[in-house]
Amino acid sequence: KDLKDQMVIDAGQKHFGATVCKACGMVYSAASPEDEAQHVQYHQRFLEGIKYVGWKNERVVAEFWDGKIILVRQGDPKYATKKVEGVRELVDNELGFKQVALACPTQTQTYLFVSLNKVVGCLIAEPVRQAFRVISEPAECPTKNSLEHHRAWCCSTKPEKVVCGVSRIWVFSLMRRKGIARRLVDVVRRTFVFGSCLSPDEIAFSDPTPDGKLFAAKYCQT
Ligand code: ACO
Ligand code: ZN
Repeated sequence: KDLKDQMVIDAGQKHFGATVCKACGMVYSAASPEDEAQHVQYHQRFLEGIKYVGWKNERVVAEFWDGKIILVRQGDPKYATKKVEGVRELVDNELGFKQVALACPTQTQTYLFVSLNKVVGCLIAEPVRQAFRVISEPAECPTKNSLEHHRAWCCSTKPEKVVCGVSRIWVFSLMRRKGIARRLVDVVRRTFVFGSCLSPDEIAFSDPTPDGKLFAAKYCQT
């Protein structure tokens, strides 16, 4: 292990006493019984939220040796839309989103990657017509002096035509780097618009997190 990294972690723990649960992602203080109790409660809720027992009429859009992808649309049976809402809440929690509204709820399509009776991946896709490319080079950034300044990244001012917006993409933390997000996006490209296959350029990731940016950059170049 990298010694420098290790020191940073140790110092952080001494200072804040914070622990991150590797499964549910909650940050809590193991030294505080109250925090611990809150974690146990949230952890249970999380496990319950991602539990998937199978539905009579599930729309399976892809199958793999280690799982399958199910598509849920607006107007599907209540048990399906309720499950999707619950998963979205957990994902928003982890992303630190607070009630970020979907642009167009009636046309939203949610893709769930299910493995061993658990939802281990979720992608929420919406129709979008234009997007602004993320620029990583600060020097190129046209909004450098505006209020957007505090962001770690910025966007081009030139709109580009896209078809599908990924408003959320999330993979269960213990199942990352197994190609689950990649397979979710592949399936969106094949199924989002009936009868056509979208190119990576026609998909935009909204407000990406650092993880999301690394994933999207890799996905779009391959
Ligand atoms: N760091 C560096 N490269 C990465 C990372 C990362 N954290 N994640 C993915 N990649 C790249 C890699 O090149 C990877 O291939 P490799 O493993 O062979 O090197 C390639 O992308 C494909 O990765 P997947 O295995 O398909 O990605 P994964 O299933 O792990 O899911 C995701 C990626 C969704 C970003 C996951 O890390 C996650 O859920 N993070 C927390 C939630 C989050 O931040 N989501 C994005 C929000 S932005 C938005 O929703 C629009
Ligand atoms: Zn936990």
